[in-house]
Amino acid sequence: MFMILLASVIWLCASFNDNRLTKGVINMALMVWSDNFSVNVTQIDEQHKKLVVMLNDLHDAMKQGKGRDVTGNVLSRLVQYAATHFATEEKLMKEHAYPEYLKHKLEHDALTRQAMDLQKQFQEGKSVLTVELMKFLKDWLSNHILGTDKKYGPYLNSKGII
Ligand code: FEO
Repeated sequence: MFMILLASVIWLCASFNDNRLTKGVINMALMVWSDNFSVNVTQIDEQHKKLVVMLNDLHDAMKQGKGRDVTGNVLSRLVQYAATHFATEEKLMKEHAYPEYLKHKLEHDALTRQAMDLQKQFQEGKSVLTVELMKFLKDWLSNHILGTDKKYGPYLNSKGII
């Protein structure tokens, strides 16, 4: 019994010292794409995936203690790409007369204002905690995709957009 216990302890210690395991924990992505996020429109899914990659890049830059300039640039690219993405969705919704277009657009406008405000505070070195910023961006992406974007999928599919 003692030998089994000893072997278990040795195995556990070896596991914790295993570089691959440690690396896996340190490099864990902030947000992981899953099919649950799919809106069933290829162009939009690709853009959402790119946003998730950019969010994780920003998270990595912050974790690695990259300078404010580097982190600020990654954040800036993310905010810019989000604007491009919102414009793509709005064009599709408008072109196909999506009934909830205006409500959706207002949500985009509010999210953009919030993101730009946080970005400004970050650039000015004000009181935006990085954890708070990452939480906002993660919630921003996941809540909006799951709660709002997914609603237009079936409508656009019915118009032949897949
Ligand atoms: Fe994918 Fe409505 O933003």
